[in-house]
Amino acid sequence: MGGFLDFLKDSLTNLTRKPDTPWEKRLLKDQLSSEFVLKGPEMAYVVTAACSGCKYTDCVVVCPCECFREGDQMLYIDPEECIDCDACRTECPVNAIFYEDDVPDQWREYIQINAEMAAKTPPITERKAPLK
Ligand code: F3S
Repeated sequence: MGGFLDFLKDSLTNLTRKPDTPWEKRLLKDQLSSEFVLKGPEMAYVVTAACSGCKYTDCVVVCPCECFREGDQMLYIDPEECIDCDACRTECPVNAIFYEDDVPDQWREYIQINAEMAAKTPPITERKAPLK
């Protein structure tokens, strides 16, 4: 089982195109969620202050599990849905996304903000025009 999940994770990491089909996203989410159940909760990725007023949304289109939520000024990652695939972090042109452990001290509050706002805001799965 672990070998297959490792294969899926490697496939996601090494994709030369974005996981953009609904069945592909569903498959990846289901398979990696199985690993989550087996291994227990993990950390999530976090959107921080640099997103505010930007919303480039490059991150959204690479997310295999549709875990982004849209606020008026910035996006949030739902920590309950994030599978820690790291696909979004390098896509953001303003480096707004960090692994939870790596969030800079001045933005640590965004870990809680993401969790709270993700529960109150709607999903976003498509690219949109940025705010600036
Ligand atoms: Fe925000 Fe960067 Fe995504 S600006 S919307 S976190 S690509």
